[in-house]
Amino acid sequence: MTEGTAQRTGAPTELGVAVLGMGNVGAEVVRIITENAEDLRARIGASLVLRGVAVRDLERGRGIDRALLTDDPAALVRRDDVDIVIEVLGGIEPPRELIRTALQQGKSVVTANKALLAEYTGELATAAAEANVDLYFEAAVAGAIPVVRPLMQSLAGDKVQRVAGIVNGTTNFILSAMAETGADYDEALAEAGRLGYAEADPTADVEGYDAAAKAAILASIAFHSRVTAADVYREGISSVTAEDLASAAKFDCTVKLLSICERVVGDDGRERISARVYPALIPLSHPLATVSGAYNAVVVEAVDAGRLMFYGQGAGGAPTASAVMGDVVMAARNKVYSGRGPLESTYASLPVMPIAQVPTRYYVAMNVVDRPGVLETIAGEFAKHGVSIAAVRQEGGADATRLIVITHRAPDGALAETVSALENMEAVTAVSSVLRMEGTHE
Ligand code: NDP
Ligand code: HSE
Repeated sequence: MTEGTAQRTGAPTELGVAVLGMGNVGAEVVRIITENAEDLRARIGASLVLRGVAVRDLERGRGIDRALLTDDPAALVRRDDVDIVIEVLGGIEPPRELIRTALQQGKSVVTANKALLAEYTGELATAAAEANVDLYFEAAVAGAIPVVRPLMQSLAGDKVQRVAGIVNGTTNFILSAMAETGADYDEALAEAGRLGYAEADPTADVEGYDAAAKAAILASIAFHSRVTAADVYREGISSVTAEDLASAAKFDCTVKLLSICERVVGDDGRERISARVYPALIPLSHPLATVSGAYNAVVVEAVDAGRLMFYGQGAGGAPTASAVMGDVVMAARNKVYSGRGPLESTYASLPVMPIAQVPTRYYVAMNVVDRPGVLETIAGEFAKHGVSIAAVRQEGGADATRLIVITHRAPDGALAETVSALENMEAVTAVSSVLRMEGTHE
């Protein structure tokens, strides 16, 4: 039997699609719907018919029939002949209201909007469940890489322990350029914008908000709990310097913005979730160290499956549209065969562990006065807070010296207190950089 031939009696032969947004992602979605119409029809068992495309600027030439464009997404979503709504506008409002309306009216929704999902998956998933329709969002995490569906469906019978990786293309592009070509931070950021990787406001990328939103989505799915962006500890890359990358290289490391979601056990023996995003040193031998440019990689560790690695293009119009269209085909098939995808699963309701209790390793770079005994005093401050030093490197200067300390694993709170104490020491003229270190076993 070929795909699409097992047509259910009375099943629709065409499905109306509304695309909200025709920017980097939306333009590619419209292209795929148009160019691949025949294949999509065969895979779905019904034709996808573009009913309209919502944009802000109706005057700009878009290469599609002008009659399809509208600047009224609310009216488009409400049309009776729309069965599937694809939301690729970005931002919280109006997408939140538009998606809720679409779901309440029995339309399935596909969205790439991680910022929205990281806050409102709960209410939107409830609306989808009540209307018995699909809410899919594979494209919201790691662009083209299938990671949401593997976590939600393929690993549904396993116990996921950890989901960690590089989930922001813009920051990986910037850090790779700084490490590999010595490029300037601003130049690399501007190029990421030109290539369609960066968000409309790149603060979301460089300050780690985008990665934190994705971490919230991943942690929610992996640990069957509701985790929002506010639960994710977050630091961005805007204070990572060329000097840090050069120092990292001397320790055979590089710097990556990591998103880490894991099960941890608290002092009371209860399982919790740690979800955190920060730039960290990782050894050059670590698999994530070779992920460069706008590529993303996500490593999943599950009890029975073991370690799985997902790698590919994490941003950009066409790669993201590929993930969107995968969801559209799934939602469309469900319309044709009267099925529906998995519901949100939050039964475990694990609490989130505060960052202060999470064990991490630190890289601390500081400028110190060059005189006998300074190293000993500084080492004493680490010891006072119960933080053990793993390595020290001294880089000379005229009358000041750059000192780099790498610690063993200790609770993040103890490390933060150590850094505060160092900042107040007379022998330390400045703590210039504090980064975590990941991917080692010490
Ligand atoms: P763009 O800024 O390139 O495009 C946004 C589109 O939405 C534009 O066509 C814009 O219209 C339209 N739009 C915005 N607000 C309104 C409104 N109120 N009414 C009507 N139209 C509106 O964004 P992207 O395509 O880059 O991103 C879209 C979504 O996909 C975001 O949620 C983003 O986070 C997500 N995403 C993006 C990825 C990427 O690599 N770019 C990767 C993964 C997810 P106009 O063209 O007239 O300005
Ligand atoms: N701005 C995001 C990034 C787009 O750079 O990864 C993909 O989600």
